Amino acid sequence: MAILNGRKRLLIGIPAALIAVALLVVFLQVRRPTNTRRALYIIGEPEKGAALFFGDKQCGICHAINGSGGRVAPDLSGKHPGTPAMGWLVTVLWNHGPGMWRQIRQKNDPYPQLDAQEMADIFAFLYQASTIDRAGDPGAGQRVFNEKGCIRCHSVGGTGGQAAPELSKIAAGLDANAWTRAMLNHAGSMISPITSSLGQWPQFTGNEMNDLIAYVRLGDSQPATKAREIPGNAERGWAVFQSRCIQCHSVRGQGGSVGPELGPERDFPLTTAQFASVLWNHAPAMLRQASENKIPPPILQGNEMADLRAFLASLRYFEPAGSPLVGERVFSDRGCAACHGLTAEGTKIGPGLRSGKEAFTTISFTAALWRHGPRMIDRAEELGIPWPTLKATDIGNLVSFLNAPARPK
Ligand code: HEC
Ligand code: HEC
Ligand code: HEC
Ligand code: HEC
Repeated sequence: MAILNGRKRLLIGIPAALIAVALLVVFLQVRRPTNTRRALYIIGEPEKGAALFFGDKQCGICHAINGSGGRVAPDLSGKHPGTPAMGWLVTVLWNHGPGMWRQIRQKNDPYPQLDAQEMADIFAFLYQASTIDRAGDPGAGQRVFNEKGCIRCHSVGGTGGQAAPELSKIAAGLDANAWTRAMLNHAGSMISPITSSLGQWPQFTGNEMNDLIAYVRLGDSQPATKAREIPGNAERGWAVFQSRCIQCHSVRGQGGSVGPELGPERDFPLTTAQFASVLWNHAPAMLRQASENKIPPPILQGNEMADLRAFLASLRYFEPAGSPLVGERVFSDRGCAACHGLTAEGTKIGPGLRSGKEAFTTISFTAALWRHGPRMIDRAEELGIPWPTLKATDIGNLVSFLNAPARPK
């Protein structure tokens, strides 16, 4: 902690304050550099989004989150959020739009209307949901327990070694966050017995940790995290990061350099179990660096694991940046120009998109798509134009293109 001087702390404090504010549902007025129009950045509140999703907007009639909800449409949890997160969410929604709108029409359900604030809340909720683990598979978890060599020292339900504590007793009262916290906090004392007994430090990939958790919970099939609970708090996570991680890791260039930068450009999974796998896999190197640099090993308590994840996730949940020039190309490459015109000036088929009084944000752009989507699909079907599919990185470019003043001819 003492490594950072006051100025550095302040430099880190500024983005942190922004993140905290963003998560706390705040409206920020930001002036676009290329434009005199003002864009209203709207940040969503996951709790409100959950209420809309399962309540008023009835998404939960068709979709489930971590197994709770409808069965006719994909379960929206447990997907790996792509980068940039907002771009990823918009493209997921856009690319699946036709299938979804057809289904809503078929079922004769009223088409749920979403204003920009509601869209933001639902996005915040979906983003959180995408970092929830699905319920693991206890059978696969038993194989993991054997293959990683845990069975040599530990038992589960009485089966296995006696040298170390019975794990089902420990796991019984713990949720996934608390279990992975216990496992990581003990990594230090397990390193030398494990590496001398197995010859190596076992590495976890994919769903292995999640399955192991299901196994040590003795098949308690309750999902480790329930759909409507939003674990973790980004603001508290930032405090944990500053006290336990920043000595070695930086975020956006601020912080230590013993370990890798953990800012939004670095891609690693953020579900509880997968994040825990990453930490477990790196534990020997982290702990070696801690002892070499005389830094206390990072021991986590209470809800700190969930808070840290929420903080790291919040860094990845921002308006994607983009370039109007690239956006102009994307607009014609992806086929938007076929209906809206090369410079989005409008044609007989589709309206002009640059006449709005307010600049688009990712959220208001998505809300507009949601409002007009069914009509757009009808036009595409009438004209035999395929539905344009988008990539996560397109969104920032498209939004900044649509916000830039039209170039003189
Ligand atoms: C009448 C049923 C129905 C309702 C109501 C509904 N959806 Fe969907 N949704 C679907 C179907 C079906 C798909 C899959 C479409 C496809 O695969 O092309 C889908 C796809 C999606 C996807 C992409 C999923 C993926 O696997 O990538 C998202 C995100 C989504 N819906 C969000 C929502 C939200 C938010 C709401 C509420 C405002 C909602 N949906 C309401 C039926 C519905
Ligand atoms: C070579 C023996 C050995 C192996 C192999 C081993 N452990 Fe351990 N483990 C221990 C010992 C000894 C302790 C108790 C350490 C302590 O009290 O600090 C422990 C503690 C733990 C704890 C914390 C228990 C508590 O009291 O909170 C967890 C969780 C755990 N191990 C999980 C695992 C998992 C999962 C594996 C397989 C990847 C594994 N261990 C492999 C020896 C081992
Ligand atoms: C004593 C220094 C130190 C501390 C303290 C520390 N780490 Fe690390 N961390 C490292 C090192 C070194 C690596 C790279 C290990 C390797 O290459 O196997 C690493 C790797 C990681 C990775 C993997 C990154 C990737 O992309 O592969 C994550 C995630 C991580 N640390 C998170 C944390 C968190 C969260 C904390 C605070 C609770 C923390 N670390 C505390 C030194 C540290
Ligand atoms: C097949 C023709 C067609 C294609 C291709 C098409 N659109 Fe549209 N779009 C329309 C129509 C028609 C409307 C107006 C719908 C309405 O009035 O309800 C519209 C409306 C919109 C709106 C809402 C406008 C507003 O003012 O609220 C946006 C944003 C939009 N389109 C963006 C795009 C983007 C980005 C692409 C390319 C990825 C695209 N469109 C591709 C036909 C199309």
